[in-house]
Amino acid sequence: MLEVKNLMVFFENALAINDLSLEVKAGEFVGIFGSNSAGKTTLMNTIAGLTLHKQYREQRKGGERITIVGKILLDGEDIMLIKPDYRVKKGIVLCRERHPVFKDNTVHENLLLGGYLRNGREVKESIEFVYDLFPALDRLKGRKSGLLSGGEQEMLAIGMALVARPRLLLMDEPLLGLSPAMQQEVVRAVKRLSQEGLTILLSEQYARPIMPLIDRGYVIENGTLIVTGTGEELMDNPEVKAAYFGM
Ligand SMILES: Nc1ncnc2c1ncn2[C@@H]1O[C@H](COP(=O)(O)OP(=O)(O)OP(=O)(O)O)[C@@H](O)[C@H]1O
Ligand SMILES: [Mg+2]
Repeated sequence: MLEVKNLMVFFENALAINDLSLEVKAGEFVGIFGSNSAGKTTLMNTIAGLTLHKQYREQRKGGERITIVGKILLDGEDIMLIKPDYRVKKGIVLCRERHPVFKDNTVHENLLLGGYLRNGREVKESIEFVYDLFPALDRLKGRKSGLLSGGEQEMLAIGMALVARPRLLLMDEPLLGLSPAMQQEVVRAVKRLSQEGLTILLSEQYARPIMPLIDRGYVIENGTLIVTGTGEELMDNPEVKAAYFGM
């Protein structure tokens, strides 16, 4: 479904993604693991088109700070120059790191906003699915989103992404900053989404709860691929064990 080929992303002269290639097949759950500054967010934003969008904005201001080289293919089609909104229409939906929600709007209104590119019936069905996935959101549907806890906001952010009806869901560090109970809740939801057949590419620094669930994963450091393999292969790898499981 998704192929990233020899991707390089530079910010000024600094290389954030270095000759990275990866693949996500339909129905797979693929993990990207890396520590701070490894390039997880840059990779996700580049697949979603946000890096390209930033590059255009900066070029209009006269700067030429961002360079993107390589190929990103969706179902064989080169999407490298396609704008973020059109990528969403094609089914690539990113749930960003610390995804912002519209704080003055209610939970339900935010979910409706997540579906702005979809028709009313699809949105209604998806919102019902989100309330089933996260019963806490159903209870909080009338509350202003700015009053939610960090974990509740993360659930809402995932919900908003789902209402956009992804074929490929990108999740950038969904466990970041959450309590252990909230992490469990998010992991449970991601597991269910994957079991129901959704194709997922998820980045995490905190690999422990995610690695056992994935079909395949990539470990990156300084934008460079270090190890790749199935979930089991990664968990058996001595370097991965030392870095992510403290063993
Ligand atoms: N807009 C930008 N301008 C300049 N440098 C950037 C920009 N965005 C990211 N970088 C640099 O690219 C590298 C990769 O950053 P990135 O945010 O992708 O890492 P990350 O793996 O998501 O880290 P974290 O776990 O902290 O979220 C870092 O060295 C970062 O400083
Ligand atoms: Mg990041």
